[in-house]
Amino acid sequence: MNDTTYTPGHSQNASDFMAKRSFASHGQFFAQHLSPGLSVLDCGCGPGSITLGIAAAVYPGNTVGIDFGESQIARAKAAISGTSPGNVSFQTAACYSLPFPTDTFDRVFSHALFEHLSEPARAMAELRRVLKPNGIVGLCSPDWGGFILSPPSDALTQAVLSYRTLQTRNGGDVEAGRKLGANLMAAGFEAIQMSARYECYPTLGFIGEYLARQLEGAGDIASAHTFREWARSNGGMFAQAWVSAVARKPA
Ligand SMILES: C[S@@+](CC[C@H](N)C(=O)[O-])C[C@H]1O[C@@H](n2cnc3c(N)ncnc32)[C@H](O)[C@@H]1O
Repeated sequence: MNDTTYTPGHSQNASDFMAKRSFASHGQFFAQHLSPGLSVLDCGCGPGSITLGIAAAVYPGNTVGIDFGESQIARAKAAISGTSPGNVSFQTAACYSLPFPTDTFDRVFSHALFEHLSEPARAMAELRRVLKPNGIVGLCSPDWGGFILSPPSDALTQAVLSYRTLQTRNGGDVEAGRKLGANLMAAGFEAIQMSARYECYPTLGFIGEYLARQLEGAGDIASAHTFREWARSNGGMFAQAWVSAVARKPA
């Protein structure tokens, strides 16, 4: 097994960044595959903000969110409100060895996980194992080949390259998005459908600070400074390409 370091880490800033996501904002590619009564696994659920939307879509079916970050699971559990219908649970687990019997879930979902994995094929095999025959998997990851960034500068290009290098060094893959379909096929899934969309971050400061802190934590002060300076620009944009793939486990 290769060593992987999860690049964003579980700092308050990184967790807050993920918690802004919802099923409505980031999970819509899978919405047509959810209906009341289905059981769903959300693998790498982070703070659980997307998971809660999945649970609402499949109620009274059960939704389980797993993540290897204990702090993320604690935050996800805290996000279950008192008025929650009670069909969602969270537990700490690694995606390479899921604590569920074979053929457990009707649906398996995973958002923004595969770009951080050094062994995507091993994770896909595990997702396939816990999915029921004829069950459907939905995956989504960014692809750093698709950025639209402005205002452009040589320094910004260099800072983006530094982040790519950091994530790659940590065992991740910044081009995981485009590989989802091929990896699903290799894992034995069928009826694979790929799609892509852009996310435009609400402010340059929101994404700039998120990236700057990770680079800073890795000792790259110059690149962190570049992202913070760039985030002060007016009229710029950070548009990220997200690739999603939906596929079926054969009967
Ligand atoms: C970028 S966050 C995405 C969180 C959430 N799915 C979302 O899109 O907002 C990736 C999550 O995957 C988790 N993760 C990374 N590697 C993992 C592994 N090997 N097993 C389980 N969880 C993992 C991290 O702890 C983190 O919470």
